[in-house]
Amino acid sequence: MTNRLHEENRKRWEAASAQWARGADSRGLWRRCPSEPELVLSPRELAHLAGIRGQRVAVLGSGDNQVVFALAGLGAAVTSVDISQNQLDVAARRAHELDLAITFLRADVTDLSQIDSRTFDIVYTGGHVAVWVSDLDRYYAEAARILKIDGLFLIAEYHPFRRIWKESTHQLTVASSYFERGPFEYDVSEEILHPKPGPLKSYEFHWTISDYINAVLKAGCRLLELDEFGKEVADWEGAPLHGLPEHFLVVAQKAVGSPGG
Ligand SMILES: C[S@@+](CC[C@H](N)C(=O)[O-])C[C@H]1O[C@@H](n2cnc3c(N)ncnc32)[C@H](O)[C@@H]1O
Repeated sequence: MTNRLHEENRKRWEAASAQWARGADSRGLWRRCPSEPELVLSPRELAHLAGIRGQRVAVLGSGDNQVVFALAGLGAAVTSVDISQNQLDVAARRAHELDLAITFLRADVTDLSQIDSRTFDIVYTGGHVAVWVSDLDRYYAEAARILKIDGLFLIAEYHPFRRIWKESTHQLTVASSYFERGPFEYDVSEEILHPKPGPLKSYEFHWTISDYINAVLKAGCRLLELDEFGKEVADWEGAPLHGLPEHFLVVAQKAVGSPGG
């Protein structure tokens, strides 16, 4: 069944895609990712991806596909999954230019029924995906379902401590409680980083660290590592976030007998 909030978010991303692509083109990282994976993957992530050559990897909510291109450059057979056809079309053109063979699949991360259970050695997701997803438990249960037993589940997400502040150049004031998950509903333009009021809908979700960990455990995975890292503050973040962690990394492994196969 179609999720109404995800459908609105999909329309937003379809509309935003051309501008998102221009932003990525101006940074130019996507061309370098296949030979310089360290541009988009942290040292801890790369340590877990050391043996990836020849393995089957799914990237869920693949967006600009920079991580997809980095993983393909490391020798993995990558399936790139996103809800937005425009995002996938941009990525497919770039993959062609880079001469990378990627499988692209349009799907909602909470319904990966197009993929058989136990297909992948690694599932990677993150870089601002969970914020658009209304059901974290279902999202990660689907990720675990498509993993082989003992397969790795890597989540590298924007740290939720950064989501709760009022816009300000000089001081931190809480705008919404850390415990308020949403949905936060906005009427917005197609710009993602600096949205103005507009005709599109955006539904966003602020999951807590314990939500992420519990969703991984409920999906039948064992937690191997939790890391918090990064200290850059970008202008789109709109508040002086220095001293707060930028990202977190969850490394988990699918256990025998996990729900859903
Ligand atoms: C910010 S990008 C994340 C990837 C990458 N870090 C980037 O910056 O492009 C968010 C992506 O998640 C996708 N997305 C949003 N909701 C989704 C859903 N329910 N299922 C699959 N993909 C989704 C969007 O289409 C978008 O391409």
